[in-house]
Amino acid sequence: MLRYWTAGESHGRALLAVVDGFPAGVPLRSEPIDAELRRRQGGYGRGGRQRIETDQVEILSGIWHDTSLGSPLALLVPNRDYKLERLDDLDRPRPGHGDLTGAIKFLGPIRAVLERASARETAARVAAGALAKQLLEPFGIQALGYVVELGGVALEPLPGTLAQQRERRDQSEVYSLDPSRDDAVKQLIDRAGKDGDTLGGIVEVRVEGLPFGLGTHAQWDRKLDGRIAQAVMAVQAIKGVEIGLGFEAARRPGSQVHDAIGFDPAQQDQPHLGYVRPTNNAGGLEAGMTNGQPLVVRAAKKPISTLRKPLESVNLSSKQPEAAAYERSDVCAVPAASVIVENVVAFEVACALVDKFGGDSLQEMQARYRLFLEMARQR
Ligand SMILES: Cc1cc2nc3c(=O)[nH]c(=O)nc-3n(C[C@H](O)[C@H](O)[C@H](O)COP(=O)(O)O)c2cc1C
Repeated sequence: MLRYWTAGESHGRALLAVVDGFPAGVPLRSEPIDAELRRRQGGYGRGGRQRIETDQVEILSGIWHDTSLGSPLALLVPNRDYKLERLDDLDRPRPGHGDLTGAIKFLGPIRAVLERASARETAARVAAGALAKQLLEPFGIQALGYVVELGGVALEPLPGTLAQQRERRDQSEVYSLDPSRDDAVKQLIDRAGKDGDTLGGIVEVRVEGLPFGLGTHAQWDRKLDGRIAQAVMAVQAIKGVEIGLGFEAARRPGSQVHDAIGFDPAQQDQPHLGYVRPTNNAGGLEAGMTNGQPLVVRAAKKPISTLRKPLESVNLSSKQPEAAAYERSDVCAVPAASVIVENVVAFEVACALVDKFGGDSLQEMQARYRLFLEMARQR
């Protein structure tokens, strides 16, 4: 079973991910992890702290001669602006954060909660996801995350191959698939910043190259749609998750929702074994299992909670009304959320891949994967 935990506070010494159950024999590099960490810190609308940090991962264990050992991998992302010991507590909880509830639940300072609740923790989750992608790569599985809506403005994902879409996304300062709309969106973010306000949006992740049968229908906690929903919903500030048509499926008759099944013998060597679907409204998952089609996941991110023009709050000592505290904060982190969601989805897919073709090594997994495709073609 592949899994991970994270540790670390926002202004502590470092963020850490411990990845357990990662097969042996996977060629590993830290550069692709660093590239994802850099993208997480980028995107138009982020503030000064991102420029201080320039995250880089250190792979502390589980690796030998650039290859995974099959033992736990510890991924360390040091905090360049470590200052936790010098920071004071807050006395006015910020609406939209865990400040008020955390201080009451733990009978302690707000800072004890905000330091861990902060989305800085997602640096560790991105590192774990970017590691997992290096396991997906030998199976031809690729994930791409991008922004499809920002501040209420739709940014349609233009069609194209995943490689073309990746190229377009990497040209966009807001990580959308249509860089020609960047200026309009940047103006929107600038205006919100000037008004002391913040913006949310919707991100989408597409995973291609998936074989049939990752996940299972057989038990609720191993359904891949459920696992993905949990992983994505557990990202800070994500308030909704959709797979495929998602909520739109509820508004249409069944004939306009379900994806007809066809067979094209010319495509039998693809992971979908030649079973083609004219639409992919299911978003690649039926009954908690991948169905050979691309996985499509969307997530709604609320606007950043800390406002330069703060909302009303209460001083926890005096119990008198006062404006909420302000800690340096971004105006918009929707592009960064697309990086985080891409990587947490990739990790869940890797877990399901290990569950299905599990073995102690990449070599064994690949042999079982090839055997499965061979047997499935005979089915
Ligand atoms: C990439 C990213 C960056 C974030 N940056 C900030 C920030 O600068 N300031 C802030 O108040 N909240 C920020 N948040 C949101 C808070 O972490 C989050 O809203 C808060 O911890 C409460 O959790 P909840 O929204 O999941 O209920 C960010 C979220 C993400 C995904």
